[in-house]
Amino acid sequence: MATHKLLLLAGDGIGPEVMEEVKRVIAWLEKAGLASFAIEEGLVGGAAYDAHGVSISEADMALAKASDAVIFGAVGGPKWADVGYDVRPEAGLLRLRKDLELFANLRPALCYPALAEASSLKPEVVEGLDILIVRELTGGVYFGEPKTITDLGNGQKRAIDTQVYDTFEIERIAAVAFELARTRRNKVTSAEKHNVMKSGVLWKEVVTQLHARAFQDVELEHQLADSLAMQLVRWPKQYDVIVTDNLFGDILSDLASMLTGSIGMLPSASLGAADAAGKRASMYEPVHGSAPDIAGQGIANPIAMIGSLAMALRYSLGKGEVADRIETAIAAVLDAGKRTADIAPKGTPAISTAEMGAAIVAALDAGA
Ligand code: NAI
Ligand code: MG
Repeated sequence: MATHKLLLLAGDGIGPEVMEEVKRVIAWLEKAGLASFAIEEGLVGGAAYDAHGVSISEADMALAKASDAVIFGAVGGPKWADVGYDVRPEAGLLRLRKDLELFANLRPALCYPALAEASSLKPEVVEGLDILIVRELTGGVYFGEPKTITDLGNGQKRAIDTQVYDTFEIERIAAVAFELARTRRNKVTSAEKHNVMKSGVLWKEVVTQLHARAFQDVELEHQLADSLAMQLVRWPKQYDVIVTDNLFGDILSDLASMLTGSIGMLPSASLGAADAAGKRASMYEPVHGSAPDIAGQGIANPIAMIGSLAMALRYSLGKGEVADRIETAIAAVLDAGKRTADIAPKGTPAISTAEMGAAIVAALDAGA
């Protein structure tokens, strides 16, 4: 059996608390003979600053580059508010994204049946929802030049942001979306605004050509991003994989993820380009931050973190069936009524971070 090199970067705040539960799942997977890991652990964010005065060390960056996947907890908090821009905790996360060239951000919106009642939408609209937003992460209007504020001298100022996309950037993100769709329900919805933006015209053209050239087996539809936002709230189950640019993806992925409940439930992945052997740099992390308000209390929900490990198994380690088992175990625990505080209805008892991790492992054990 292949041994997978994982780098665990727990970070600070609740990061180390939820990472403990990932380690519990990893230990179980090894014991059950379902996967074999070579685990390294490093420091990032506040933890790296407290130890070495940096946001991530060069040694840990080298480990990240050498790993099959980085599993990242969370970073940030008031304790490090004044440490300086280059060494602040968030700088470690940005460095990893930039140096590993993680251009594809995958945000699933998955609604566990037991939590459908907790959505702000009607349960039947979200129950069983399983869509995947693929957001371009390293280009577009967040990075395009010129990016300026100019004083016009007449009491007015002018702000300029520039949306820039080259063919290769659109092609590589669309290819990721098509490949992922093949492992799911085989449908891609590409969202842009070609009616008012030149970058949208090119986006649509490049996606259409790539589809014709290499992915004709996948169903492709194009949708204007604003209309997609409406449809996501009206009937989200019509989608499988949605691919879109950095700005639209930022907004649509936040919208889609909140269809399904607490931030403590949401995993994510960031992927880089495949090398000649087909191997991609990749990092998996919960969508939530370091939650300084609850850190140290042992009450954080570890499901987003454990779900991020499942995504790593599915998208980087070739272990989709093991990922399915983890998600099934999470669903079983939720079906049994077990809730951490963030997903427990008011007035009902909640379990701790460690109890939730142990319950998921027990469910894995029961299903094994
Ligand atoms: P946050 O996600 O840390 O917390 C928002 C709210 O959700 C808080 O009330 C928190 O207690 C709750 N929450 C978050 N994760 C939870 C979990 N697993 N279980 C139960 N409740 C949970 O976002 P916030 O408060 O805006 O940021 C806190 C710090 O985290 C900041 O320094 C921010 O920069 C950083 N941050 C880091 C991210 C990362 O490491 N990728 C992402 C977002 C924020
Ligand atoms: Mg956002």
